[in-house]
Order: sequence, then C-alpha cells, then structure tokens
Amino acid sequence: KTRLVAVDKDYPQQQLINAAAEIIRAGGLVAFPTETVYGLGGNALDEDAAAKIYAAKGRPQDNPLIVHIQHIKELEGIVEDVPPGADELMKTFWPGPLTILFRKKPVIPSGTTAGLDTVAIRMPDHRIALELIKAAGVPIAAPSANISGKPSPTCAQDVLEDLNGKIDMILDGGTCPVGVESTVLDLSGPVPLILRPGGLPKEELEKILGHVEIDPGLSPGQRPRSPGQKYRHYAPKAHMTLVEGPVKLQIAKIIDLAGSLESSGKRVGIMATAQTRQEYPLGIVLSVGDRDAPLTISSNLFSILRKFDRLGVDEILAEGISREGLGLAVMNRLYKAAGYNIIKV
Ligand code: TXA
Ligand code: MG
Repeated sequence: KTRLVAVDKDYPQQQLINAAAEIIRAGGLVAFPTETVYGLGGNALDEDAAAKIYAAKGRPQDNPLIVHIQHIKELEGIVEDVPPGADELMKTFWPGPLTILFRKKPVIPSGTTAGLDTVAIRMPDHRIALELIKAAGVPIAAPSANISGKPSPTCAQDVLEDLNGKIDMILDGGTCPVGVESTVLDLSGPVPLILRPGGLPKEELEKILGHVEIDPGLSPGQRPRSPGQKYRHYAPKAHMTLVEGPVKLQIAKIIDLAGSLESSGKRVGIMATAQTRQEYPLGIVLSVGDRDAPLTISSNLFSILRKFDRLGVDEILAEGISREGLGLAVMNRLYKAAGYNIIKV
C-alpha cells in the first residue's frame, strides 16, 4: 500500500515529484528526504491531513508540526509578521536546518500547530523537498517520519520500517547529510531562544544575533517551551547509558560497565568514536564518527541507534562528545535517547 519510489536527489524526476505532489494536494501523506531527517509530509493548510500525520506516527496531540516552504514569498500568506532578526537569519541560513517561530495567520489550521497561535517554519536544503513543495503548491507540514518516540529516520528504509502501510508514498532520495533535526528558534522574547538544538549550530546563530540562549526547560526535570522536547525521544529498544567526562575516563567506565553487564548475560553494544573504537576488548563496538568532525557523528547517530536494535543488544553504552557546534544537538539527542540515564566520570 505504501509506494517506495527512488528519486534522483540532484535532478529529481519531475513525473515522480508530480505524482507525490498530487497525493499531498488530495490530502494524503508522502515521506520525503530533507538535509536533516526524512519528513512525513501533508498539506499544512488541511486539518484532516494534519490529523492523519498524528495518527500515522502515534504522535501526542499537543506536539505541533513544522511547516516547510520553498520560497520566502510564501511566508506572507501564512504568518502575521516577521520577528526582529528573522529576515537576516532567513537570508543567511535558508534553505537550511533552521526553524523559526512566527505568529500564524488563520489559514494555518490549529490542527497543524496543536492549538498554538504560533507556527514553526523552515525551508529545507534538499532538492527533492523543495521540488515537492513547489509542485504541491501548498506549504507542507512535516514532522520526522518515524513512529513517535523512536530514532528519527535518516534513510528511506528507516521510514519503511516504521510507517509501511500507514502512508501513501516514500520518496527515496538516499541518506540525509546532517542527520539530526533542525534547530528550533524563538525570536519573540528579549533574547533569542533555542527551543531545540539542531543542525544549525548556536555559534552560527550568534554570529548574526549576538547572544543566544538555550531554553532552560531542556535540562532534566524541567518543562521545555517546545512541546515535543518533553517526551522521551529518539529512543532505541535497548536500555541506554551515556557516559560523560574526559575521554580516557569514559573508556575505563564503559569497559567496567560492559564487563559486569556481560557477566550477567547481557548483550552489550558500545557506541564509540573513530578515536576510541580500538580501546574496547568486549561488547559489540560501533563507531558513530570522528570526534574532530561532529558532522560525521550527527549524520550517523540515529542510524547507529537503529542498528544496535537490529543487532538485538540489551544495553547500549555511549560515549559523550564535546558540545561545540553540532555536538550540542548530538548530546541533546543522546540525553533523550538514554532517558537521562547519564553517568559523569
Ligand atoms: O529537521 C526537522 O526539523 C525535521 C524535518 C522533517 O524538517 N522535522 C522535525 O519535526 O524534526 P518534528 O515534528 O519531529 O519536530 C518538531 C519540533 C517539536 O519539538 C515541536 O514541539 C517543535 O518543533 N515545534 C513545532 N511547532 C512549534 C511551535 N509553534 N512552538 C514551539 N515548538 C514548536
Ligand atoms: Mg521528531
């Protein structure tokens, strides 16, 4: 029932894009690649399409969707105004992994924004996504195309694993280069506030905005301003522990934990890095990427979590990384994947 269609990511075939766009216009659901993760798209102006998205994902009703556009001109019809600083950001970072909150016009149904009077908007940096939105002729609401709570999908196979039979079509455009979702930014207060760290680093925003804060609600036990951030998220089936601190101490701690887990009969997965993978004498060791190139880590993160699940490990022991650049988003996802089960060494 779900059609899986391979599309060229550099030169998307127009007839395939048109077929997908037709489904969107008719109120159906199409999963498509973006530079961050795969999105589950529906017509953002259609309340019923939004309801279908929530149903397919099993998504909590209070978690608003991100609306995707392909041209800045589309903003006019859907938002009341542009907050200070946003123009410069859009000029610099769109298309790209930055989502900005706006006051919504009534044409955006409250089913899309979970009842909020703000709407989160971004322009994805991916030819397939941009062509799809253009051909559909409407903005496209799209959360990540996973079952709610599972790691976000970074390839078409991951989407199929979660949503086969529940959606009309998947456009397969290969793997997503960034691998973590967009940065969600609120410009409505006195200081720009990151509601969800993501693919656009805080340091990049600060070059334009000066000081930027991170929603204090993202700390364990607090109440985040972005509804989606309060749920356990990105979670593998396995129990997961994140070890933070100097790398040498992380390794020692993980070897220690893995030893006792294995001796009690548990299958242990170790999420290591290029620099550390040789250090582990036990466990199923996978490198998530290079500590000196956080993009290699972000792009692999969710697919590695899914891989550990397919390998049937009972416990994942993960190394922490630096919070610089993309590292902030990676650590945010690891905290949530581990359900805040963190050991500091
Ligand atoms: O990279 C991305 O952003 C991907 C791709 C597909 O574009 N989409 C994505 O959507 O990650 P989703 O639904 O998985 O995450 C949307 C996040 C949630 O944390 C949600 O709470 C927040 O954006 N959000 C959406 N609208 C909001 C609003 N009006 N106010 C505050 N937070 C909002
Ligand atoms: Mg998501």
